[in-house]
Amino acid sequence: MLAFSESVSIDRRLAPFDIAGSKAHAAMLARVGLITRAQGSAIQRGLDAILVEIQAGRFKWDTALEDVHMNIERALARRVPAAERLHTARSRNDQVATDIRLFLKHACAVLREKLRLAGLAILASARANADIVIPGYTHLQRAQPVPLSHHLFAWLEMLERDRGRLAVVAANANWCPLGSGAIAGTTLPIDREFTARALGFVDAKGRPQVTQNSMDAVADRDLCIEFAAAAALAGTHLSRIAEDLILWSSAEFRFAELPEAFSTGSSLMPQKKNFDACELIRGKSARLQGNLHTLLTLVKGLPMTYNRDLQEDKPPVFDSFDQTAICADVLAGAIAGVRFNKERCAAAVADPSLLATDLVDYLVLRGVPFREAHHAVGAAVALSERKGVPLNRLATADLREVHPGFGKDWAKVFNLGRALKGRTGTGMPGPAQIRRQFARWGRLLKS
Ligand code: ARG
Repeated sequence: MLAFSESVSIDRRLAPFDIAGSKAHAAMLARVGLITRAQGSAIQRGLDAILVEIQAGRFKWDTALEDVHMNIERALARRVPAAERLHTARSRNDQVATDIRLFLKHACAVLREKLRLAGLAILASARANADIVIPGYTHLQRAQPVPLSHHLFAWLEMLERDRGRLAVVAANANWCPLGSGAIAGTTLPIDREFTARALGFVDAKGRPQVTQNSMDAVADRDLCIEFAAAAALAGTHLSRIAEDLILWSSAEFRFAELPEAFSTGSSLMPQKKNFDACELIRGKSARLQGNLHTLLTLVKGLPMTYNRDLQEDKPPVFDSFDQTAICADVLAGAIAGVRFNKERCAAAVADPSLLATDLVDYLVLRGVPFREAHHAVGAAVALSERKGVPLNRLATADLREVHPGFGKDWAKVFNLGRALKGRTGTGMPGPAQIRRQFARWGRLLKS
């Protein structure tokens, strides 16, 4: 049963947050007179010393003491007689709920920063390859030409939404459960607002924020689920980015050359260079989704309020944090080493059929209804395939037979510079908009 029920092997990483919570609680107990000032300071000093020991790796964790809370309290009792009073007006239920909230506020800040750094690496790559244009794809078929930077900015949009979600999770975590006790608070005269303030559970104006229902406060694990959801979605985005890079580095595309440091060879095929870094990012995203599912299932059938099942919240939460963090780090490092192949990109985007839609627009501007123009260009594409002549090299007379709307100047459409320049609206890949987006991302990703 000991081996089965212990959690200290996992929740010991909550120690810095547990100690911060206990210090704030002790300060509050002293303030309201439930312990003396001297007892309060002795407890604070003892907890500080324990934290130093833990950080130096000298602390002896004992699984017989079950969890991080009991380990620290027992160690404190060996140093400070007043330790026996620390748990006044507190339960491990509101204690662990507080620890998790403190941990999640920290975890969200760390992941936001790591995603920002990954974004900066992507932005640097966009800057270094600002003159490259590639085909954009739908259904993995060549669709329309876009600057490579426009594609990379699409990645940045995904990661920026992830950063926004993590900020929301951190804001939701910013309510202090201490004082909820085991389930029904306490009859002792505590000051919840004081503890909340001491732990930084405050709004923008510095006003303390405390949870509003003692039962919900100890039963609630929404934040773990929200955090895992934000991490799972970030992982999904990182996976899609990784997949783009894997495709681009295949011999079929060869748009990009992999950095050696983030690739591996094959034990059998001497010529192989595999982008394992990106494949692992793709793989880890499955694990992040699994963690979210674990947490949802963990909570769904629990009667109010705290149940020991909830102890199983920590492995998936910690894993989602660790794996998202390292995926962001690895992506940032890998991107920095990816070399884009200008010639291959230029050859791919030279395919004139990528501008077939622009030819439709040409007809539309000459008064042809869109459906009719679309049909006419479709027929022109079929003609070029039948004749084995590129779309932009068809004879004007042949095109006129397809549709009388084609003028003498129809072939001007087949110019990449012109095609991009015409895309002037917000969110489009025209050069003026791309310049705007470079400036915008520079601002958004500044620390
Ligand atoms: N280790 C426990 C957990 O993580 C702490 C709370 C234990 N509470 C209790 N009543 N046994 O959930």
